[in-house]
Amino acid sequence: MLEPISQDLQPFNTLGLASFASRYVRLQSVGDLPALSRLVRQETQPVVVLGGGSNVVLPERLDALVIHVANQGCRVVHSASDHVLVQVQAGHGWHAFVLHAVAQGWHGLENLALIPGTVGAAPVQNIGAYGTEVARHVHSVVAWNFPDQRLHELQSDECGFGYRDSLFKRARPGDWLIVAVRFRLQTLWQPVLAYPDLQRHPLVANAGQALTADQVVQAVCDIRRAKLPDPAVLGNAGSFFKNPVVDTQQLHTLRQRYPDIVAYAQPEGRYKLAAGWLIDQAGWKGRRMGPVGVHDRQALVLVHHGGGNAAAVAALSRAIQEDIFRRFGVVLEQEPVNVTG
Ligand code: EPU
Repeated sequence: MLEPISQDLQPFNTLGLASFASRYVRLQSVGDLPALSRLVRQETQPVVVLGGGSNVVLPERLDALVIHVANQGCRVVHSASDHVLVQVQAGHGWHAFVLHAVAQGWHGLENLALIPGTVGAAPVQNIGAYGTEVARHVHSVVAWNFPDQRLHELQSDECGFGYRDSLFKRARPGDWLIVAVRFRLQTLWQPVLAYPDLQRHPLVANAGQALTADQVVQAVCDIRRAKLPDPAVLGNAGSFFKNPVVDTQQLHTLRQRYPDIVAYAQPEGRYKLAAGWLIDQAGWKGRRMGPVGVHDRQALVLVHHGGGNAAAVAALSRAIQEDIFRRFGVVLEQEPVNVTG
């Protein structure tokens, strides 16, 4: 049943890059973990864990054992007057779970609607959008550790969450396989509307106190669809760079030259700069470099027009990083993971 096969990964990465894995297995059930662990122990090639493929840059040839996490399902572990604890299998689609939660009256994830990928991948890069991050709603992460061949339940504060970061993202590739995520969701509806685009959306602006969770989901979906390309239509991996963080002095210097620079205050006198603004100012929006390019509505998103590979993506990414450093003295860190094997 867990017999590795060679596999075309193009349908399994949202950038839509051609990629061929030498050995590939699908994990459908937690019951297969011991067999999978035996396979990994005997493996001579690197191990790559693949979820929804929305935050990876895959090479044309992946000489690795690729484990595609595909276990589905969701169950309530515990319910109280003001919250529920829900366990969701890692291979479950993220957006499908957000819609399910809203329909059940479980709140907190509305602003994260329509993010591509799986539930298991959400904590890896601590997905975030429109004023919230998944870490705020993660109770714990159930993960298999290949080195010690045990299932662990890591509490939220043990996951090393940061901005688009966690211990799972920093760990050695193939060490951890997230099996399920437990969410603590509120049964009392309290919208999070700090993000200006959300406040301005007509559904939100006109609803006042009567604003529902469904309306916030709808507004978030509208905003995303207006700015971000649909991976089913145009290959992309969402934001390709993290928003860089600078100190007060550096912001002050930049503001003197660029009075319109977009910056958000962070704790301890730090500021997060809008990388999309920097890339846009540098004239990259809508530009193409062969088969890849910069999205024409959101400069933070690199897109794949077809026929490209990881090298083309890397060349564009590097060209943007070098240009932004030359112009603004700011280092852009890539968000998606470069997978090697
Ligand atoms: N901007 C421009 N030109 C552009 C793009 C952006 O001037 O081409 C300016 C905007 O006008 C705005 C600012 O930059 O003033 C920020 O842009 P936006 O609101 O689109 O958000 P972002 O900082 O570019 C981040 C996340 C997104 C998330 C949005 C909404 C990161 C790396 N990206 O983007 O997350 O959806 O905020 O919260 O933090 C993702 O991680 O894949 C992702 C899409």
